[in-house]
Amino acid sequence: MEKYILAIDQGTTSTRTILYNHNSEVVMSSQREFQQFFPHPGWVEHDANEIWLSTLAVMTETIQMSGIKPEQVAGIGITNQRETTVVWDRNTGIPVYHAIVWQSRQSDEICQRLKDAGREDIIRKKTGLLLDPYFSATKLVWIFENVPGVKDKALNGELMFGTIDSWLVYKLSGGKRHITDVTNASRTLLYNIYEQCWDQELLELFGIPDSMLPEVVSSSEVYCCTAPYHFYNHEVPIAAMIGDQQAALFGQNCFEKGKMKNTYGTGGFLLMNTGEHAVQSNHGLLTTIAWKLNGETKYALEGSIFVSGSLIQWLRDGLHIIHKASETEAMAFSVKDSDGVVIVPAFTGLGAPYWDDQARGSIVGITRGTTKEHLARAALEAMCYQSKDLVLAMQQDTNIKIKELFVDGGATENKFLLQCQSDILQIPVTRLKVNETTALGAAHLAGLAVGYWTMNDFQADVLATYQPKIDKQLSHHMYQRWQKAVKSCQAFEED
Ligand code: G3P
Repeated sequence: MEKYILAIDQGTTSTRTILYNHNSEVVMSSQREFQQFFPHPGWVEHDANEIWLSTLAVMTETIQMSGIKPEQVAGIGITNQRETTVVWDRNTGIPVYHAIVWQSRQSDEICQRLKDAGREDIIRKKTGLLLDPYFSATKLVWIFENVPGVKDKALNGELMFGTIDSWLVYKLSGGKRHITDVTNASRTLLYNIYEQCWDQELLELFGIPDSMLPEVVSSSEVYCCTAPYHFYNHEVPIAAMIGDQQAALFGQNCFEKGKMKNTYGTGGFLLMNTGEHAVQSNHGLLTTIAWKLNGETKYALEGSIFVSGSLIQWLRDGLHIIHKASETEAMAFSVKDSDGVVIVPAFTGLGAPYWDDQARGSIVGITRGTTKEHLARAALEAMCYQSKDLVLAMQQDTNIKIKELFVDGGATENKFLLQCQSDILQIPVTRLKVNETTALGAAHLAGLAVGYWTMNDFQADVLATYQPKIDKQLSHHMYQRWQKAVKSCQAFEED
């Protein structure tokens, strides 16, 4: 009887499941969107129960539509939106508050308080992260401070904390296991990535009792099985958990030190495998765990771009100069350059390597001759310049010369974008046939744990490699204009 691996990809706006065969081909997939809550400007929340129900629904749907029998699923791998924080009651399994999403800024003031108390350095040294509302710990503190009775219950050992991976395994296993993998733990601000344990000093600093923390496990092993009543009366091994950006790095086969991937989604995430060394960044990048597999931990450097594909959405929904994102490809190719126009999409400030939350976006170099085609081209170029900022920072932090960039995400359908990225970076840019590398990474890790695959089975099947077409000088000149434009939008705020 042929066997398959099921990947659950629990993302920020939707939950998906993908069923893979032994050739790593997609046999069937299913997707459900769920509600986004914006209770105040800057806050983003999810209903953790709705996330759980959406997961159950897509799992069931995928199996039904594929026509395979549930016992043909050899293992399940979970990948998830990271940092999003859930707190639930140990006895009832009911969340005490909405899940606070990674994008949410509601713990801004808590971060400021800790910064003012001079705590950022110690946090950065131990976790590789910045003291920012992005990460889980201050979201948890926010729940303690704002949801009546929660802190006391937590101190009494009555509550459990977890990121979405934890929550889903807890639910899928019928409450049997409360675990998280190292990659998700490494995004909480509570996990010492060097000693690889929850850090007592940090727990005290944030006032979080260790009784509510999940046990930390590797990214690939059989943790437990599905409770039969959740999966057609079958106990299927849950065999991988990994944060989604790390999963994409694994799915892109970036197994060796120096390999790097960029995901172009609403925002952008660039991750570089730094091998068994956790590299501290001097350029505002994050140090994080890439995965733990067969007892070995691999680290990564990460840079996030706040506005990537959402810049194209803005051309569509804000400026109304396009109807569909895909139109930008032909528009950008139709002009010979951006005619000197540079867009800096600092809508909500600038992330790595600038970390300037006061900066605001700008469009410079407009003339009477500027057309919407030039703007479309400048927008796609901006996505590439932002990636170059991060690639340069990573090279400086690691002393490793990047030789190739692997790309994934929706926007990689755009051929202009990928050619431009190669021109700006002056290195080859490669897109694999599989664009869903996040789910694939989780599936591969689960397949390794249950003996379905070995590492030799993972061959990168290349769809296209883009080589630089413009010369170094021009590329350099374009990038310098970008840097000037960034400076001007930072200076603009200072005035
Ligand atoms: O760190 C946040 C990231 O994991 C979210 O990814 O794909 O759900 O937007 P995505």
